[in-house]
Amino acid sequence: MRPQPDFIHEFVPGKSVRTLLLLHGTGGSERDLIPLGHELDPNAALLSPRGKVLEHGMPRFFRRLAEGVFDLEDLQERTNELADFVISAAKHYEIDKGQIVAVGYSNGANIAASLFLLRPEILAAGILFRAMLPLVPETKPNLNSKRIWIGGGAHDPIVPASNTKELVELLRSSGADVTIRFFQSGHELTSADVNAACEYLTRLRY
Ligand code: MLT
Repeated sequence: MRPQPDFIHEFVPGKSVRTLLLLHGTGGSERDLIPLGHELDPNAALLSPRGKVLEHGMPRFFRRLAEGVFDLEDLQERTNELADFVISAAKHYEIDKGQIVAVGYSNGANIAASLFLLRPEILAAGILFRAMLPLVPETKPNLNSKRIWIGGGAHDPIVPASNTKELVELLRSSGADVTIRFFQSGHELTSADVNAACEYLTRLRY
């Protein structure tokens, strides 16, 4: 039987106990970030779901009302649904639940941030490319043992640097160990992002 609740997804077994939870951007699919996952950690298992919300046919992880304006009710529901999927997938594929690292880009980075804020038990660490503050939770989560790396684009027209910094403040004030780097780029992912994230993951202890 497939993991329930189900998402269309790819699972690639690994050679180490770590699993990267790959979360694509708007218009992406479960296949998009597989090469990135292999590049970031060639030994890790990869779990890569496809977002269930369609915006003009483009898959996303939650609804938005406009660019950068999120449907908060949907975001909360989708965050819980994704968290429940990860739990059932972990059982199904015999993934170590204490070794899951989210790797998200854009919309995927935003739902990864939401997982940290609403369901922090799911993730040990996160690599968030071009993330923004998705929501402010009613109560602050306890993120004491969490390690989070965030890569921003200094000229990103979609994610203002001030918004990424608000996310960093909230995560840090909740106890997370956050590294933030800004790159000379826009919203697109660059090789400088990937190299810096690779280095961080290699040194990562949690
Ligand atoms: C979002 O909707 O999550 C952000 O605006 C990023 C995007 O997907 O364009």
